[in-house]
Amino acid sequence: MKRTPLISPDLLERIVDASEDGIVVAEQEGDENILIYVNKGFERLTGYSADEILYQDCRFLQNEDREQPGLDNIRKALREGRPCREVLRNYRKDGTLFWNELSITPVYDADDNLTYYIGVQKDVTERVEAQMELERLKAEHGLS
Ligand SMILES: Cc1cc2nc3c(=O)[nH]c(=O)nc-3n(C[C@H](O)[C@H](O)[C@H](O)COP(=O)(O)O)c2cc1C
Repeated sequence: MKRTPLISPDLLERIVDASEDGIVVAEQEGDENILIYVNKGFERLTGYSADEILYQDCRFLQNEDREQPGLDNIRKALREGRPCREVLRNYRKDGTLFWNELSITPVYDADDNLTYYIGVQKDVTERVEAQMELERLKAEHGLS
């Protein structure tokens, strides 16, 4: 049974754009997952405008920083069509680092074909830096 939409597509777009977090949709194309939608939250978080980055794989946010343990888990989850959540080092357009808690979820169509991935990017820089400072202080004072 088809559900009656309670909000218009215009309002839905305003709601998605109001999110603090980045929300993106990617489509599988060969070995890459290319961005076909990014919300305003993604533009605010990364400093890139949609026009600059649509049709690219989101890995451009890693710059040259490609040796990250979380990436192996992401590759494996993408291969297996599973959702995943990892914290990555990413870089804004101006080169500044932010810690990105990235959640990726596959979206299947009615025939169970994998069609899109939705990605949500949350800036967790303050939390990660506080954790790192805590670890540093513990080490300095010989606490485990
Ligand atoms: C929907 C979606 C959103 C993604 N968002 C990000 C992101 O914000 N930052 C990032 O570094 N990688 C992101 N990725 C992961 C990269 O696109 C890529 O899958 C990852 O770097 C591992 O593959 P690679 O070794 O081919 O680069 C996203 C992937 C998908 C499918």
